[in-house]
Amino acid sequence: MHIELSVPVRDGASPSTASGSGSRAIALSVNGESRVIDLEPRVSLLDALREHLGLTGCKKGCDQGTCGACTVWVDGRRVLACLTLAAACEGREVTTIEGLATGGELHPMQRAFIEHDAFQCGYCTPGQIMSAVKLLEEGNASTDEDIAEFMSGNICRCAAYPNIRAAIRQVRDDAREDEDATA
Ligand code: FES
Ligand code: FES
Repeated sequence: MHIELSVPVRDGASPSTASGSGSRAIALSVNGESRVIDLEPRVSLLDALREHLGLTGCKKGCDQGTCGACTVWVDGRRVLACLTLAAACEGREVTTIEGLATGGELHPMQRAFIEHDAFQCGYCTPGQIMSAVKLLEEGNASTDEDIAEFMSGNICRCAAYPNIRAAIRQVRDDAREDEDATA
């Protein structure tokens, strides 16, 4: 597992999505936008994003830190949103799959996933893509073995792994070619 587990919610239990008597206003920066929502301190970042902000790109698979479907970035690092408290993200920049495309253009990793048919049901795909972009930035994609190891926190129940690795290799190799061309 190479995704940060961040701030744990209660032991193995699903966090509440509710706003209740213990709620307070929590200010989040999500995909470059400031958002303020009333939440109980125990609400996970995943539930805050999906249930309160309508950002359903991050998926709830296991809700206990074992599948990677909920992977988002906090301050540029990949984290599992189901194991991260929303309140712990105040003052930090949260990025979800909805924030990955810029200027109407898909991110190269999104394009590569489409070109390589790197999904079947698509449920794991947002988490795979958010993880894959960081994998390259972390410099851990030199070999297929490295890619498999450093993406091991992202489970694909459809077993699209060969295509996912092909997509990652393409983005890696394209980036290298661009670097060589400008050297
Ligand atoms: Fe978070 Fe599975 S939903 S790791
Ligand atoms: Fe179905 Fe990965 S594409 S779980």
